[in-house]
Amino acid sequence: MRIWVYPGSFDPVTSGHLDIVTRASRLCDRLIVAVLNNISKQAVFTAEERVVMLDRAVAGLPNVETARFDGLLAEFAKARGAEAIVRGLRAVSDFEMEFQIATMNRRLAPQVETVFIMTSTEHSFVSSTIAKDVGRHGGDISDLIPEVNREFVKNALLTRRS
Ligand code: PNS
Repeated sequence: MRIWVYPGSFDPVTSGHLDIVTRASRLCDRLIVAVLNNISKQAVFTAEERVVMLDRAVAGLPNVETARFDGLLAEFAKARGAEAIVRGLRAVSDFEMEFQIATMNRRLAPQVETVFIMTSTEHSFVSSTIAKDVGRHGGDISDLIPEVNREFVKNALLTRRS
């Protein structure tokens, strides 16, 4: 069984994340979308909310499951028997940080590969940060947030401060 892990903060899951999940799920037998429990950056959504939103977004993908993790991603990947960690790359600007993370993870778990998937062009500008910024100011987040979570995210961004 080929198990891959797609980790992230997912604060909140975006259409760009869902694009990567969908495409990665076709390349492995089981994809675990892993939500980092304690993000150092200030999160708008709790870990529980982030997982619920992911669960709703991936409901149509039978070989995808969600999980939460604390601590090192490399340890989580090893514990789940994962063969690879998946990350999406939007632009050259993502590369430097991703290269560092992948190199570190490889040192920590040499048996776990990192696989990069290029984000589809229509999502190349999408990030959780951009979605939060637009939503907070009442802008249209239709292209940024999966439909199943849109109302919840829209309302949360208009009423919460973080
Ligand atoms: O969605 P993000 O915020 O870009 O995801 C970053 C994430 C969760 C992949 C990264 O912060 C992570 O793996 N954190 C866990 C701690 C860890 O393993 N650190 C060592 C590798 S840098």
